[in-house]
Amino acid sequence: MMMARSAVGMRDSGRPCPGLSSMAVNHPAPRFSPSSRARLTTYDLARFPRSTLFDRLARAVCAAGCLPRKELYESWEVARRARRLFRGGRVVDLGGGHGLLAHAMLLLDDSSPQAVVVDPAVPPSARSLHQALATTWPRLTDRVVWRDAGVDDVELGPDDVIVSCHACGALTDRVLGRATGARARVAVLPCCHDVETCDAGPIEGWVDQALAIDVMRAVRLEGQGYRVWTQAIPEAITPKNRLLLGAPVNP
Ligand SMILES: C[S@@+](CC[C@H](N)C(=O)[O-])C[C@H]1O[C@@H](n2cnc3c(N)ncnc32)[C@H](O)[C@@H]1O
Repeated sequence: MMMARSAVGMRDSGRPCPGLSSMAVNHPAPRFSPSSRARLTTYDLARFPRSTLFDRLARAVCAAGCLPRKELYESWEVARRARRLFRGGRVVDLGGGHGLLAHAMLLLDDSSPQAVVVDPAVPPSARSLHQALATTWPRLTDRVVWRDAGVDDVELGPDDVIVSCHACGALTDRVLGRATGARARVAVLPCCHDVETCDAGPIEGWVDQALAIDVMRAVRLEGQGYRVWTQAIPEAITPKNRLLLGAPVNP
């Protein structure tokens, strides 16, 4: 049991992973990378023995048996940072896939009445995941709804908290555009930066293109009257780890 427990907080190098630092890291352990795309299943239950909210969430995810491991860590790290800044409101998870981020947002702040997962291609296993989570937390039942739709097809309002984890390329810009149009709070973890469709501005001669695109996103958000926070989730989980958060200065 101790072996599995210490494994979770380690980088592949064996050094502690900062975002996972509360876990025991003093024992040599078998490799368990949080960036793995392998599905978490009941075989992994013993890796999450504690009574913390994260371990309970991980055990429910293992019971569902359908979620790639990295999605658990990504969703958790985004949700807990977003919730430090943004309390309450309806949660809207754009390009939400399985919707674990939406669920984690509700678990971290029960004052949000509802979460909406918006995705034109919701994985069939999203239902199993929701059922496993609702079995552990019955209060989640009927509070998460899925919309088989694109980012432009849902109504958003100023009380919403918009979240989006790894919306591909320019989809992240559309998420930001929808959020700012509604004067809603927003947290995005961008991925697959595409210079053909995303704006790298005038700084790509100094920094790599992906960073230039994200810097421009942060600057644009501020220019639209937002207070902006730039953070990062642990790189051991994903190299696409820049987290951009914003809230309207004058809601
Ligand atoms: C890389 S996946 C990320 C899924 C999930 N957020 C996660 O972190 O695991 C990108 C998601 O965006 C969805 N997507 C693609 N085009 C979209 C659109 N126009 N509006 C909303 N979601 C879209 C895809 O179906 C896919 O589920």
